[in-house]
Amino acid sequence: MVREPNVARVGVAMAMHCLGTRALSWAAARAPRLVLGIETSCDDTAAAVVCEAGTVLGEALHSQKETHLKAGGIIPPVAQRLHREHLDRVVQEAMDNSGVPLNEVTAIATTIKPGLALSLQVGLEYSLKLIEQCKKPFIPVHHMEAHALTIRMLQSVEFPFLVLLISGGHSLLAVARGVDDFLLLGQTLDEAPGDTLDKIARRLSLKNHPACCTMSGGEAIEYLARTGNRLHVEIREPMSHHIDCDFSFSGLRNQVNLIIAKKEKEEAGIQDGQLLSCVNDIAAAVQHTVAVHLAKRTHRAILFCKKEDFLPQSNPALVVSGGVASNEYIIKVLQIVTEANGLSLNCPPPKLCTDNGIMIAWNGIERLRAGIGILHNPKAIRYEPKAPLGINLSEQVRRAALKVPYLKLKI
Ligand code: KG4
Ligand code: ZN
Repeated sequence: MVREPNVARVGVAMAMHCLGTRALSWAAARAPRLVLGIETSCDDTAAAVVCEAGTVLGEALHSQKETHLKAGGIIPPVAQRLHREHLDRVVQEAMDNSGVPLNEVTAIATTIKPGLALSLQVGLEYSLKLIEQCKKPFIPVHHMEAHALTIRMLQSVEFPFLVLLISGGHSLLAVARGVDDFLLLGQTLDEAPGDTLDKIARRLSLKNHPACCTMSGGEAIEYLARTGNRLHVEIREPMSHHIDCDFSFSGLRNQVNLIIAKKEKEEAGIQDGQLLSCVNDIAAAVQHTVAVHLAKRTHRAILFCKKEDFLPQSNPALVVSGGVASNEYIIKVLQIVTEANGLSLNCPPPKLCTDNGIMIAWNGIERLRAGIGILHNPKAIRYEPKAPLGINLSEQVRRAALKVPYLKLKI
């Protein structure tokens, strides 16, 4: 369990760090609020201390990526064991880096939904013990809400805005109207784009590529695609006749598996685990197809928001986040859509797109500011592996049957 950091600093010193010396008189009157955020929903053990001005005072992260890459996928009991082994050290490190004693933290925020049950359990149990020890309020966090709001720590993006969340576990389009107020316009019907990219990367044995062996599937595909020619491999766009904002990636993966099997036959003598000569072209074609699918759904979501007047007239914004949002090609294709429709595109840097403790701590700050979901007696709280985001409007989107005008989605 967390011990007090070696350097005890007083609240006013902390306030200066957070707000700058000019704000000292105010800070002396009321120290800025600080949140310790804890994330264990999937395969990253992460923690951070963030103040309400959006300054990250300390952070730490232990990634399980290497273990899961070797195993060929996330094995939940292994993820749980690794969270158990590392969480206390990670929290301690984030606290030590911040120089904030635990008794100066305003609240502890922890991801409790959605995610892998065994992983969520570790973060919640640990947090409840910590709360009992330090008698601080608890702020349960929805992982996807945290991804959606991270951008507001970095720049001014006012509610309401459109958000596209793309990761290893999710693909969804929503209107963010408030800290815990979302309208869901579409989501994946099968698997998430990050999951698809990870599976295709495994099928292509990219971990045997010297430059890609430590990369996630998505990163490896992006890296190889830079020197590939997508026109050499033909992949059909998923759900091109559907007039909604839902996503589907499993059909794309099946198509790619068939293409790989055919190429393997053509390259007679190729051994199991050996790389195909055309991996770069396959990567480029996969990345492009994923980008176009995401862009067309986003385009329809923008048209739906305009029709329903969901976004402000001035400075309407699209926020893109989640691990797959680190992909520069996908962001560029999405930019074609936002520019054609007069929206700004806002995306956190890759480090804050993938899972981290900062986004959870920031969500705690957002909730403190709004006075929403701060628990003083959290004993009855449970983790929720499946947790929808907001009110589901997918059916209305489908009924609106909006046709997306042609846009040249080529870069
Ligand atoms: O948000 P995240 O860290 O964890 C989940 O909540 O899923 O996202 C991880 C996913 C992985 O599937 C990984 O392959 C994908 O994000 N990813 C990328 C890139 N970097 C990570 N996908 C495409 N391009 C990237 N550069
Ligand atoms: Zn995530």
